[in-house]
Amino acid sequence: MLSFKLPVALSLLAATAIAQSYGDNSTLGPNADGKYELSAEGIRAYFIPYGASISNLFINDTNGIERDIVLGFDNASHYSVDPFHPHLGGVPGRYANRIKNSSFVIDGQEYHVTPNENNNNDTLHGGPDGWDFRNFTVVAHTTDSITFSIVDPDGKEGFPGEVVSYITYTLTPHTWHLKMVALATTKKTPIMLSSHTYWNLDAFANPDTPTALNHTLSLPYSGQRIGTDGILIPNGTILPNLQYDVNDFWSAPKQIGANFTSPDLLGNCGTNCTGYDTCYLVNRAQNGPYDWRTTGSVATLSSPWSGIQVDIFTDQDAFQVYSCGGQNGILPIKSTQGLDGRSRVVEQFGCIVMEVEDWIDAINQPEWQRDKKNIFGPGDDPYVLEAAYVFSVKKSS
Ligand SMILES: *[C@@H]1O[C@H](CO)[C@@H](O)[C@H](O)[C@H]1NC(C)=O
Ligand SMILES: *[C@@H]1O[C@H](CO)[C@@H](O)[C@H](O)[C@H]1NC(C)=O
Ligand SMILES: *[C@@H]1O[C@H](CO)[C@@H](O)[C@H](O)[C@H]1NC(C)=O
Ligand SMILES: *[C@@H]1O[C@H](CO)[C@@H](O)[C@H](O)[C@H]1NC(C)=O
Ligand SMILES: *[C@@H]1O[C@H](CO)[C@@H](O)[C@H](O)[C@H]1NC(C)=O
Ligand SMILES: *[C@@H]1O[C@H](CO)[C@@H](O)[C@H](O)[C@H]1NC(C)=O
Ligand SMILES: *[C@@H]1O[C@H](CO)[C@@H](O)[C@H](O)[C@H]1NC(C)=O
Ligand SMILES: *[C@@H]1O[C@H](CO)[C@@H](O)[C@H](O)[C@H]1NC(C)=O
Ligand SMILES: *[C@@H]1O[C@H](CO)[C@@H](O)[C@H](O)[C@H]1NC(C)=O
Ligand SMILES: *[C@@H]1O[C@H](CO)[C@@H](O)[C@H](O)[C@H]1NC(C)=O
Repeated sequence: MLSFKLPVALSLLAATAIAQSYGDNSTLGPNADGKYELSAEGIRAYFIPYGASISNLFINDTNGIERDIVLGFDNASHYSVDPFHPHLGGVPGRYANRIKNSSFVIDGQEYHVTPNENNNNDTLHGGPDGWDFRNFTVVAHTTDSITFSIVDPDGKEGFPGEVVSYITYTLTPHTWHLKMVALATTKKTPIMLSSHTYWNLDAFANPDTPTALNHTLSLPYSGQRIGTDGILIPNGTILPNLQYDVNDFWSAPKQIGANFTSPDLLGNCGTNCTGYDTCYLVNRAQNGPYDWRTTGSVATLSSPWSGIQVDIFTDQDAFQVYSCGGQNGILPIKSTQGLDGRSRVVEQFGCIVMEVEDWIDAINQPEWQRDKKNIFGPGDDPYVLEAAYVFSVKKSS
């Protein structure tokens, strides 16, 4: 059953009113590819109901050429039939990342959710029919904002209780804002959301490289990371990112590929994996109270070739980085991307996934004391994730 909390009910009414006021404007419906367009000064994007995903994000590069800097498919209907489902640009839910042994305990009761990874040893991104495998409902769409909703029933994928969620994306000049709200309406349940966006800030048009290894990353608050086993399940340890180690992105910015010749990078993203698939912690409180909107960005990614830079601000306390080691030249790029004469696919290390989130699998690490940010029940404050991705462009010299 659907029992809305008052603020959500009010925002739903407001959202519906907005949707109705634009309801007869055909330019605000989906386009021929099934995508919903938003724009603001210096930024234009498409979103789709499938997984409440971003499918295209256009920023003008240092030469004034529009670049589509996120991965996705050309046609919204392809997302449902693509056999690989790399979680392109969607909202993993109701619990992002991995759940150890596909189980957890709440108030002494053990729950088992549907496994879908590593020979069914764990549950990734909410299970085989997690949120980003489903079409959300578009409840509002204006020229610079869209709100999606989903009602996740009690027992779906084995999770206890119903969850009702609203995902709002808004564009303001040069900025993409994300606001995700979720309510556990009937039982206590784990909730952790994120945005699983894949980036290539060159839109695969850099003649020197089809990879993102030359992108520069900075994680100024991330002196620590969550230790994981060979299949990327947290093993309870918090590890130091010692200065100059392969995981040191805090002491100075460095290229994603800077340490790819270091033997230390082998196994850094699971057994036999070279690169990053790592949950970095974000430690901001050390400098006193902070306002996530104005305190420095938790991450900065830039490409020297396109000159495009994104600064990520968020209220979340962890940040996952995946360097696309699993890509192997099968996933196609979009018609809006690429370079004539080059294969139109994503090569290994061709992208970077960056996920604002909470400490992964904290539901199975009670000693981390993250329950208030991982487990939600009726009567609790809603789960909220906010982030702002701010774009800028280095002028060509
Ligand atoms: C319809 O959308 C266009 C383009 O966004 C806008 O200029 C126009 O004012 C809208 N019309 C109505 C009736 O909302
Ligand atoms: C999108 O894909 C659907 C189903 O595969 C197809 O019917 C439709 O024509 C495609 N749209 C465009 C614009 O190619
Ligand atoms: C890119 O620049 C062109 C030409 O000035 C402009 O029409 C377009 O809106 C810009 N694109 C974005 C995403 O700002
Ligand atoms: C999602 O919606 C698209 C477009 O209407 C449709 O082609 C697709 O089958 C739907 N997918 C699911 C999983 O419902
Ligand atoms: C994993 O879950 C199974 C039930 O699905 C349970 O029997 C087993 O004890 C669990 N293993 C660990 C290590 O927690
Ligand atoms: C997964 O579980 C099975 C059976 O419990 C085990 O044999 C296997 O080694 C585990 N690990 C992986 C990575 O499949
Ligand atoms: C790209 O990265 C490689 C390896 O890190 C480095 O050798 C090369 O100089 C970089 N190129 C540019 C243009 O930064
Ligand atoms: C946990 O994983 C990390 C990273 O692989 C490893 O260094 C550490 O020894 C492991 N600790 C335990 C207790 O398994
Ligand atoms: C990683 O790259 C940085 C920047 O080039 C360098 O300072 C550091 O020594 C490298 N670390 C390792 C372990 O190779
Ligand atoms: C890791 O690589 C080694 C050497 O290529 C191989 O023998 C081993 O089976 C691989 N292990 C896994 C879990 O893929």
